[in-house]
Amino acid sequence: MTHPRRRPALLRREAVAATVPVAVAALLAGSGPAVAAGSVGTAGVGDPYFPLAGNGGYHVSHYDLTLRYDPVGRHLDGRAVLTARATQRLTRFDLDFQGLKITGLTVDHVKAEHRRDGQELVVTPRRALRKGERFQVAVTYNGTPGPVTDPDGSADGWIPTDDGAFVAGEPQGAMTWFPADNHPLDKSSYDFTITVPQGRTAVANGVLLGQRTAKGRTTFHWRQTEPMAAYLATATVGAFQVTQYTTRDGIKVYDAVDPREAAAAKPVLKQLPSVLEWESRLFGPYPYRAAGSIVDHAPEVGYALETQTRPVYDRAPDLSTLVHESAHQWFGDSVSLTSWKDIWLNEGFATYAEWLYAEQHGGDSAQKAFDALYARPATDGLWAFPPGDPGSGAHIFGTPVYARGAMTLQALRTAVGDRDFFRILRAWAQQHRYGHGTSAQFERLAERLSGKNLDRLFTTWLYTQGKPRHP
Ligand code: TRP
Ligand code: ZN
Repeated sequence: MTHPRRRPALLRREAVAATVPVAVAALLAGSGPAVAAGSVGTAGVGDPYFPLAGNGGYHVSHYDLTLRYDPVGRHLDGRAVLTARATQRLTRFDLDFQGLKITGLTVDHVKAEHRRDGQELVVTPRRALRKGERFQVAVTYNGTPGPVTDPDGSADGWIPTDDGAFVAGEPQGAMTWFPADNHPLDKSSYDFTITVPQGRTAVANGVLLGQRTAKGRTTFHWRQTEPMAAYLATATVGAFQVTQYTTRDGIKVYDAVDPREAAAAKPVLKQLPSVLEWESRLFGPYPYRAAGSIVDHAPEVGYALETQTRPVYDRAPDLSTLVHESAHQWFGDSVSLTSWKDIWLNEGFATYAEWLYAEQHGGDSAQKAFDALYARPATDGLWAFPPGDPGSGAHIFGTPVYARGAMTLQALRTAVGDRDFFRILRAWAQQHRYGHGTSAQFERLAERLSGKNLDRLFTTWLYTQGKPRHP
């Protein structure tokens, strides 16, 4: 466990990260913040890496998603009801929605004009929405969903499998199965009502409120109450073995496991309660009332995702991967990004949690993991770009983000000492719980709690091109 977690897709990413000229990517990145143009909601929230992700002019407080999936015909019928609030006067606004055919769209129960423009679904309500007004958008749709291809060549979104679908939306894929304000800046509660053929299980986020079977179909009703970014939503379908229990801390656990992965997965999943307890001691209380794991058999996917409350794995995870996805529940899910550029706040922290777990469970120390990485030559892909400034969406899952991101935390720990370091991690999780955090805010917090000037440390580890001269 001295090395950061690597999956086939990450290796592919590594190759990409090493070959794209960083300077070119950086030039493409600076599109600046979104500015509201009159009373038209912008097509994006101004994320330099994903300019069309999210939308301006409103926030979604709740998604009510009703889905029916036929794994044989690969057909999805969907209805999404979004409860939102206008943050400006709106004569027009966008949703993000890719593919699938729309058969009906209303705003506050009145038919609204709409058109498609790539991933933008442009909606013109019958009358303008006032600033601060609450409104409801209902979209009915159907078709054959499929994944999107990310800038780095990986697939995310609705990924059909031999017995259902592997559904993981980071960074862009949520829009392949429901219309969304598809950027982590907007966090919402969710209800999912998912119907699948009897014998299949549909697993989403949060708590299972109920399930009923009639006429050869089973409907699952899931509720995610704590705020969630769209990319962390799942509705994974398969012929799963299900295990449910409640932990000593009262967390409701729901595990869904593909039988082909069960033998390898069971001993690892059994550790979830102790991993969450261990992480709670380090990071503060677990943020959610629900937990669990979805272990699918989808080896072609090549990665796992920290879907909120219940990570989804493309195969039986090892313990280190379980620790990683669990740590994301604090870092990434509860404390969200405001911009994809800050992705090290997710991946560096989750990787560092793996190091800490090893250190405290008879494995190598985090310092040893750091030293082994630092020993890599300056030409290694690890040093291809600085983790605090990956340069483009094609690099957000590159090795520097995971490994040098974790090294940044180890460098911080060395600089401030264990006591302050763990105070910083806990304060970060607590102060930004259910919200957002930026790299700059993390740096300020670390300086405030340690009383040290850490400018040089963060400049070196997060933002300076190439291998740092000193460990
Ligand atoms: N965030 C995932 C993790 O825990 C990685 C991930 C998400 C990913 N989407 C991806 C990796 C797409 C490769 C491709 O590390
Ligand atoms: Zn991760």
